[in-house]
Amino acid sequence: MLKEKIEKVIKEAGQYVKNVDYSHVEMHSKLNFRDLCTEHDEKTQAFLYAELKKILPEAKFIGEEDSHSSESLEGYCFIIDPIDGTTNFALDYHHSAISIALVKDGEVVLGMVYNPYLDELFWAEKGKGAYVNEKPISVYDTDLKHSLLGFGTSPYHMELAKETFDLTYSIYPHVMDIRRCGSAALDICYVAANRQNVFFETILQPWDYAAASLILSEAGGMITDMLGGRIDLLHGCSICAGNGRSHAEFIDYYKSFKERRG
Ligand code: IPD
Ligand code: CA
Ligand code: CA
Repeated sequence: MLKEKIEKVIKEAGQYVKNVDYSHVEMHSKLNFRDLCTEHDEKTQAFLYAELKKILPEAKFIGEEDSHSSESLEGYCFIIDPIDGTTNFALDYHHSAISIALVKDGEVVLGMVYNPYLDELFWAEKGKGAYVNEKPISVYDTDLKHSLLGFGTSPYHMELAKETFDLTYSIYPHVMDIRRCGSAALDICYVAANRQNVFFETILQPWDYAAASLILSEAGGMITDMLGGRIDLLHGCSICAGNGRSHAEFIDYYKSFKERRG
């Protein structure tokens, strides 16, 4: 019931995002020139807040385009990214998603990530498996060597660029190939759907990964920070997402990479 109602809202938001008129997309920067926000990120978030509030009036919100986000995860809380992959969106690249997680007392109980360009809804409810549209998904246990590795560049944190690119260069001979697709939420869902086998980014925020984290766990995958610690749903952290094997091998590789660098 809740799932159907939230699905209707996320798909409506998706139609809005997909049908934007690119002759006038207004952008402004937030923290630095890379951190774009269009009027559509803000409008989509306002739409999601209003509609989700009708479904669960007692829920709090954490959203990317909101400086008054909740500081606690007690009770119900929606964690939302109205457009994950804003740079892709601003350039009409057709690889962005709307991400909604419903958290209850600190635990994600429902996650939805919708790519309107492909009409693909990745979703999971706690304990009920993971799906893309109506199709169940579960991860294969590939080792690192046979894994397609996705990564994110942490574009709003230039101080992490050297580590990101040194690590990517260093690990490249040990994986099948590498992708950087521009939407962390889809990146993690793509691990869940075996479209890539492991993903990392040196810093992400809860709205980037909250919904996708449940989708991946329900698909039998693993998501932690890059040292194997629990993900943080309030403050953001680094992310490693994989199947059991690729995840464990990546974490070992990263630890030894860090030791080698001192
Ligand atoms: C960004 C995307 C990108 C990732 C960044 C995120 P946004 O989200 O997920 O792939 O590399 O770290 O911040 O800003 O497009 O919602
Ligand atoms: Ca995002
Ligand atoms: Ca966003």
